[in-house]
Amino acid sequence: METVYLNGDYVPRSSAKISIFDRGLLFSDAVYEVISVIGGRLIDMERHVTRLERSLGELSINAFADWSTVSQNLVAENGLQEGLIYLQVSRGVMDERDYRWPAPETSPTIFAFAQERTLIDNPMADRGMTIITRPDLRWQRCDIKTTQLLYASLMKMEAVAGGVDDVWMTRDDMITEGTSQNAHIINKDGVLISHQLDRRILPGVTRIEMLAQAKSMGLTVEERAFSIDEAKKAAEAFVSSSTLLIMPVVEIDGHKIGDGQPGERTGKIRQNYIAAVQRACSTTS
Ligand code: PDD
Repeated sequence: METVYLNGDYVPRSSAKISIFDRGLLFSDAVYEVISVIGGRLIDMERHVTRLERSLGELSINAFADWSTVSQNLVAENGLQEGLIYLQVSRGVMDERDYRWPAPETSPTIFAFAQERTLIDNPMADRGMTIITRPDLRWQRCDIKTTQLLYASLMKMEAVAGGVDDVWMTRDDMITEGTSQNAHIINKDGVLISHQLDRRILPGVTRIEMLAQAKSMGLTVEERAFSIDEAKKAAEAFVSSSTLLIMPVVEIDGHKIGDGQPGERTGKIRQNYIAAVQRACSTTS
């Protein structure tokens, strides 16, 4: 994927350069979005724009661009069929390093790139993910999609070291979310439980459509935190994200979920989710 976007220009990736005084680099003073692309079309772009603008607002970063057009142009320029668009906005470049940002304001640094990835035929959907739980030591504004991802990276490496696929994080023994996904369970009574939207989790774009699909399948939904113990006793467990879409979880802390195979309802939610986003794309473009 050769063409990237930087501050208004579409340029080859090798010539996209950012200052070492960018606050995104020095303070993670930046927010981002990851938008999935399926069949050459952006999935749920409007919801990503809404969340990006909220993140920018929460940090008082004044940045404006036609986010959809930039993303669409990168898909076209790179001939991307399946994968993702990464879009980042930082507060911009300072004259010298200072925790306080300067007035008058810096002009934001905006960049984006395309990345190929198999989303639909991901073999993980057939075998399911294995998970371990770890304390959630992130800050208390996880609802803002900032680039402070070091703790998530450390946890991904713990998963690698532990021979599992990923980590679900916990506060007071309650699951908050995955390192880069929202976490959900379906209990033995068939109730889908998903952490309520608050400052402890990212309001996932995929989660919105997932909950709509689950409800239309007749599942009861409870938006509340669930414990590690509740998760282990669940009939099914799964995650949602723009890159994994809906992905079954088959093991938590070495404990098999249900019969240890991807859950049937999870599989149906995944199928219905994919069908719904593809239908939405074909009617909007
Ligand atoms: N991550 N929670 C966290 C902490 C995330 O980083 C993400 C997404 C999600 C799911 O959000 P959505 O459904 O809008 O993708 C939940 C992206 C994919 C990433 O950082 O690569």
